[in-house]
Amino acid sequence: MAPSDNNVMPSLSSCLRLLLLAVTQVNGLTYTSPSVLPSPPTEGLGGWDAALSEAQSFVSQLTLEEKQNMVTGVKGPCVGNIAPISRLGFKGLCFQDGPLAIRQATNASVFPAGLSAAATWDNDLIEARGAALAREFKDKGSHVLLGPVAGPLGRSALGGRNWEGFSPDPYLTGLAFARTIKGIQDTGVQACIKHIIGYEQETQRFPSKVDGVEIKAINSNIDDRTIHELYLWPFADGVKQGAASAMSSYNRINGTYAAENSKVLNGLLKEELGFQGYVVSDWGGTYSGAPSVNAGLDMEMPGGEIFGSHIGKDIDKGAYKMSRLDDMIVRVMTPYYFLNQNKGFPSVDPSSADIVGFDGSDNPHGFDLSGSSYRNVRRDHAILIRQIGSDGAVLLKNTNHALPLSKPKEIGVFGYDADAFPMSNGQPELIRDSPYGYKNGSLPTAGGSGAGRFSYVVSPLSAIQAKAHEYGAHVQSVIKHSDIIPDKFKLDTVPDVCLVFIKSWATEGADRLSLDADFDGNLVVEKVAAVCDNTVVISHSVGPNLMDFADNENVTAIIASHLPGQEIGNSIVDILWGAVNPSGKLPYTIAHKASDYNGPIANVSNPTTADAFESTFTEGLMIDYRHFDHSKIKPRYEFGFGLSYTTFSIKDLDVQNAYDGHISARPPSAKTQPGGNPHLYDTIFHITCTVYNTGSVKGKAVPQLYISLPSSAPDGTPAQALRGYNKVSIGAHESTKVTFSVLRKHISYWDVTAQDWVIPKGKIDLRVGFSSRDVQASHSIAAIA
Ligand SMILES: *[C@@H]1O[C@H](CO)[C@@H](O)[C@H](O)[C@H]1NC(C)=O
Ligand SMILES: *[C@@H]1O[C@H](CO)[C@@H](O)[C@H](O)[C@H]1NC(C)=O
Ligand SMILES: *[C@@H]1O[C@H](CO)[C@@H](O)[C@H](O)[C@H]1NC(C)=O
Ligand SMILES: *[C@@H]1O[C@H](CO)[C@@H](O)[C@H](O)[C@H]1NC(C)=O
Ligand SMILES: *[C@@H]1O[C@H](CO)[C@@H](O)[C@H](O)[C@H]1NC(C)=O
Repeated sequence: MAPSDNNVMPSLSSCLRLLLLAVTQVNGLTYTSPSVLPSPPTEGLGGWDAALSEAQSFVSQLTLEEKQNMVTGVKGPCVGNIAPISRLGFKGLCFQDGPLAIRQATNASVFPAGLSAAATWDNDLIEARGAALAREFKDKGSHVLLGPVAGPLGRSALGGRNWEGFSPDPYLTGLAFARTIKGIQDTGVQACIKHIIGYEQETQRFPSKVDGVEIKAINSNIDDRTIHELYLWPFADGVKQGAASAMSSYNRINGTYAAENSKVLNGLLKEELGFQGYVVSDWGGTYSGAPSVNAGLDMEMPGGEIFGSHIGKDIDKGAYKMSRLDDMIVRVMTPYYFLNQNKGFPSVDPSSADIVGFDGSDNPHGFDLSGSSYRNVRRDHAILIRQIGSDGAVLLKNTNHALPLSKPKEIGVFGYDADAFPMSNGQPELIRDSPYGYKNGSLPTAGGSGAGRFSYVVSPLSAIQAKAHEYGAHVQSVIKHSDIIPDKFKLDTVPDVCLVFIKSWATEGADRLSLDADFDGNLVVEKVAAVCDNTVVISHSVGPNLMDFADNENVTAIIASHLPGQEIGNSIVDILWGAVNPSGKLPYTIAHKASDYNGPIANVSNPTTADAFESTFTEGLMIDYRHFDHSKIKPRYEFGFGLSYTTFSIKDLDVQNAYDGHISARPPSAKTQPGGNPHLYDTIFHITCTVYNTGSVKGKAVPQLYISLPSSAPDGTPAQALRGYNKVSIGAHESTKVTFSVLRKHISYWDVTAQDWVIPKGKIDLRVGFSSRDVQASHSIAAIA
């Protein structure tokens, strides 16, 4: 969407109104965003110095008009385009969605969503996913992959885009984020870390007009400590990993739009975290010209409305200097050279141009459309997709040895989610037929710009039929809920096992309305369980679901299978029949009831004032399991939980000092590097333990380290926080040694007065176990006496 003209040039009175209204007070805190000026220039830190020189020499050859085009998108063959400059041999930049597939393309793979990747807790698989995704982007001629996502982080269980990212735990998201970026950029494609920051709901993500009054986009009021310890945390990991670009969010933070929030872009991202790349606006999320440029925004997308030719005029008026414009372009071109994108990068697949509606008949910038069309870029990525799909499935319940299945002769399959996926241009969003998405077919991904175009989907039903065929079993299926709920269905015989598939949809642009499975999925489970005492429930879902059926005696097993991508059916068959031993763990908490969650979506039915939509993050650090711990609420299935077909234990916990010399409360001062003060990443302790496979089959365990800070830490400190995990494969009756490195930042809190990370005095509790509530071994140690 494009902001209206009066956003571009606010009148004096609207400026005053903005100043007066951009202050919110809640619980004695005043939420306002201070100015942090000027915008810090890039220095080529983190090994980018040679690329920086090349970028500077490129910029020195540009005319003003070319400069304007380097920071403003134009119409072209991709969803975002920077125009070519043929006299300099520059072929332009192609930006494509998104975090789980190249969406503006056919014959590309649709990978498991970030949520599924996070549920594997397997950093190597997560990196492999990033690399495979990026290979497809590169083959299709796309320089910039618009992902990964760490904002939304997942403050609210109802958030419509949480599934695009990883987990509401910032440590897990931070590692998944960094390893995804590594995979992408090692392949020569730029990652675009998004959305910075406080973008925790879809409701009112854009401004709207009601009776002539402009109602501004949602405002997230977030205190400084919460920003640092939750929402900014993964972005620090992403910057440390060398992310090429960052995307600003649509929402306001403390009253100021993200794209013109100098505290966020100049202060936090560029100064404190030492970000060396460029900040691009979300599409249509630039709300002003000069204020945004001064606040640290480096590129407007999709462009044309606000930056463009206004830039020269702004410079003439003295709104900012030419050196700022030059820095914007140097920031754009440094990662381009660093990743060797100037050397033989494939051209854009012209069939992608068709998808974005660019036929080249109006091509003043001379985009190259001569490359080969309809490139098939999928390679053998189906193998990886199938594996992540299985490894991201979390076994929540397994009684009476229901799973793995041992060749049942009669198999019942139930529910819309089991069925073939109706192909309509490959996109679920195009065939959405209810507030809960589309009825027919399984849920390999959810909706919006974070979805993908499918070449094929292996449905659960077809994969089960193929498996049954292998050993001569018989499959009965009842797909329509309207046949199951009124008990209309007739079975030839009661199956040996009834596999019920339920789903929960979400999409960009809307938050979830319920945490129950869609289309009365819970009732479908009860109906099947009433006649089948071996009912196995499989959910495909965008996040937490309430599972009232979990206590039903006939529900013998439950698997949360998330959003596994195009191999959805094969991934679940591998788990059900035991070709893959389940090893996924919940990257979020499953509650007993909806009111157990906090972080509500802010909503107003009849907004009348510009600032009607306000969301103040009064819960501070207490989101997801931190909230359940703090408010002493028993979850149904806790964060980090997940069963296996074998069992594990942990013994011999040992903690060693890893730091040579005196440990100061604050990190020694040092020049900022990407990620912030490099001493934040000094290793303070090594923790070792031995993990035993106490069962009779091979399996993968995920030992997890949780840390509790001493009571000298300020109020608002969570009872515990995840600070390490490791996925290990162990043979039956075998064991393996696991090491965790505890970094300074892991045992520090953000001190708002000192504006620094501080290690609190006293004993730190270290616990290792198999979930946030399963402690296998523990130890206490002081870093600072
Ligand atoms: C928002 O306001 C809070 C409360 O005063 C403050 O702690 C925080 O630093 C501000 N953040 C930004 C990004 O302006
Ligand atoms: C997919 O790739 C094949 C070649 O492998 C090609 O024949 C076909 O036209 C492509 N289809 C689409 C929809 O891009
Ligand atoms: C869903 O499937 C039914 C047939 O079972 C069909 O009538 C209906 O048109 C389908 N809906 C969509 C949106 O594809
Ligand atoms: C469990 O299954 C048995 C046998 O089919 C049935 O009699 C019983 O009512 C079922 N229980 C529930 C809670 O549905
Ligand atoms: C927000 O309120 C509007 C208007 O009452 C409603 O249509 C929408 O569903 C609500 N959104 C959520 C996420 O509750």
